[in-house]
Amino acid sequence: MSKSADLAARIRDQAGAEAPRLGLILGSGLGHLADRVEGVAIDYADLPGFPHAGVSGHNPKLVVGQLGGTRVAVFGGRSHYYESGKADAMRLPLEVLADLGAEGLIATNAAGSLRPDMPTGSLMLLSDHINFSGLNPLIGEPTDRRFVPMGDAHDPGLRQSLRDAAEAEDVGMHEGVYAWYSGPSFETPAEIRAIRTLGADAVGMSTVPEVILARFLGLKAAAISTITNMAAGLSDEAISHDHTKAMAPLGAAKLEKVLTRFLA
Ligand code: HPA
Repeated sequence: MSKSADLAARIRDQAGAEAPRLGLILGSGLGHLADRVEGVAIDYADLPGFPHAGVSGHNPKLVVGQLGGTRVAVFGGRSHYYESGKADAMRLPLEVLADLGAEGLIATNAAGSLRPDMPTGSLMLLSDHINFSGLNPLIGEPTDRRFVPMGDAHDPGLRQSLRDAAEAEDVGMHEGVYAWYSGPSFETPAEIRAIRTLGADAVGMSTVPEVILARFLGLKAAAISTITNMAAGLSDEAISHDHTKAMAPLGAAKLEKVLTRFLA
């Protein structure tokens, strides 16, 4: 049995055999959403190969159960490229999600805004992304399955349902392009000007490798950013991880409403 199939079997033993419909990855400062799930929580430490989620503001456990009326698998924390130098750090958890029988993945993250009309506290649904890192989680994958088409990587159907949920909850949600920057240092103002010219609306250090992996594994994907700061050079606001964690709750309350309605 593959490592992911083995882990999926162990998770089913603990949390029940019913397949989760969706996986949710929670970003920096958003990990507490995992506590809203009615189900069984399993520490990443008890799932060999899962990331230790060493970034503060994350909640390193997998919770399988009901959220808003849908069975979900919530990943309370993620591993980032900048922690290990491995762009495929989330491959095993996403393989497990696929083996559990999920249809799709909703990733969330904290991000910096490149748009003056999208201030701190905003939500942004990703219409698409730019892989500004030059990295790819499928480098080294030996099969021809590595040539994943990315034309509809951010699933139109999931995006429409998320838009509908935001509208029903009367939560304003922007849409735009997310650029993946490796981190862990933040961007320079010149880098932000560069990616703005290239068409990015927000910038962050995650999500893109997960969307690539999800598509590779046959999962639909969509993602939402919570804006925790204006990107470098765009305001006098401090940019720091502490600031990210402090500002994430502004968007988290909106995000929780949208996701709960989306799952209803
Ligand atoms: N840049 C990169 N990642 C981020 C930012 C940012 O400004 N804010 C939150 N995550």
